[in-house]
Amino acid sequence: MTTLRRRTFIVGSLAGASAGVFVPRLANAIGYPFTLGVASGEPAADGFVIWTRLAPNPLNADGLGGMPSTGTTVEWQVATDERFTGIARTGTVTTAQASAHSVHVTLTGLEPGREYWYRFRADGHISPAGRALTAPAVGTSPELSMLFASCSHYEEGYFTAYRRMAEEHPDLILHLGDYIYEGAATTTKVRAFAPSAEISTLAGYRVRHAQYKTDPDLQAAHATAPWLVVWDDHEVENNYANLVRNDSSPAGDFKARRAAAYKAYYEHMPLRSAQAPSAENMVLHRRVRWGSLATFHMLDTRQYRDDQACGDGTKVCPDADAPTRTLTGTAQESWLVDGLRQKLGTWDFLGQQVFFAQRLAAADGSKSMDAWDGYTANRTRIQNAWDTNGNKGTVVLTGDVHRSWAANLMQSYQSQNRIIGTELVTTSVTSGGDGNAADNSLNPTLNPHVKFFKNLRGYVKTRTTSTEMRVDFRAVDKVTVRDYPVKTVQSYVVEANNPGLQAP
Ligand SMILES: [Fe+2]
Repeated sequence: MTTLRRRTFIVGSLAGASAGVFVPRLANAIGYPFTLGVASGEPAADGFVIWTRLAPNPLNADGLGGMPSTGTTVEWQVATDERFTGIARTGTVTTAQASAHSVHVTLTGLEPGREYWYRFRADGHISPAGRALTAPAVGTSPELSMLFASCSHYEEGYFTAYRRMAEEHPDLILHLGDYIYEGAATTTKVRAFAPSAEISTLAGYRVRHAQYKTDPDLQAAHATAPWLVVWDDHEVENNYANLVRNDSSPAGDFKARRAAAYKAYYEHMPLRSAQAPSAENMVLHRRVRWGSLATFHMLDTRQYRDDQACGDGTKVCPDADAPTRTLTGTAQESWLVDGLRQKLGTWDFLGQQVFFAQRLAAADGSKSMDAWDGYTANRTRIQNAWDTNGNKGTVVLTGDVHRSWAANLMQSYQSQNRIIGTELVTTSVTSGGDGNAADNSLNPTLNPHVKFFKNLRGYVKTRTTSTEMRVDFRAVDKVTVRDYPVKTVQSYVVEANNPGLQAP
């Protein structure tokens, strides 16, 4: 991919550049509808999904973005160059109020392993252009430049990390959950949520997603590369488990709330129709192949999990080790084990939400019941699946904890006998606010396999070849002040045939 990458990508609107056949016409019925930007996702060797949502007034309380109740025709273009002189595909779709005038177009028949650009036109308005990539063909393993991030609390900071991710110009971006937060607005942060109450209705989730998507830094990150997204808890409610709610506020049917949250999530993400929700359910776990280099197993550790053991929190809880307990659900576990045994590429990346390695919080053995430590039998079965299959290039990519961590995955955490994989945990984009570079919560005595900790906001940058993966933990010193530069605070190399963290 790197050899194809061009350095002159234009993030902004192309309406004033060479608009090719896409000449802006006189706008009429609605105001500028592309206030939420554009996005692409789900790259395959022959295509990807392109997304937008029409919303001239994105924060309207009814969640419908100021659109008329009737459908609007949206034209789309995919081009082989950023000036749209080489048009590869065009088409039209009609939006519907039932899906909040969101647009998901699934492209097929494109060439593998190359860049494309896309844009939309509706009612005479032209959208910004986005850059997407197709995955390389199976049988090829070009270098992959991939970033991953999680936990973007809108009130707690500016999305500088998203801006810096856009500037990195990666081939692919993973978001591992807590893309939005559901809480009520506060008056003590750098900016305030809309709507102001904790969201629990479809209109509320739509407005919150729309508010996020109005952020120019987030828009830039979406426009620069295709994304693979999976949710964690805050896309619905803090620490929910399947249909078990965390608390009783706001009152109401939690099944209906989850259905509303999932529907709004789908409407705002560049996902395939296979992920479209049905009632309160939505199948989000999926495999995405990146040629013969890597397979992304994108996991959902919220929708099917058993309730947290011993009442949540960090504690000593023998029930956490019960063999029947599951974080993934049995069907997703079987699907994952099967995919690991297939060994479709040099690397297996598990894109998922919560801390995977054992992490003891105190000498008494207390652990987080919300993470894999609360579901240890499920973790052991998955680890054993790749280990007994002889897979060496397994890397678990994690979010959730608002800190950067790196760990070796052990065949037995108790005996520390053998390294069988690697875990990279990205910090938050903003959640928790400004970090503290002096914070040191690494406890090498309790957790000898855990090698790195840093409490700063940022993301993880990776460059992967068929022999090694280079990892840079990227951080910004402040998020309560706009536009901080990004820096690398730690680097590692992971070898494809030798699991675990190595000095770069
Ligand atoms: Fe979070």
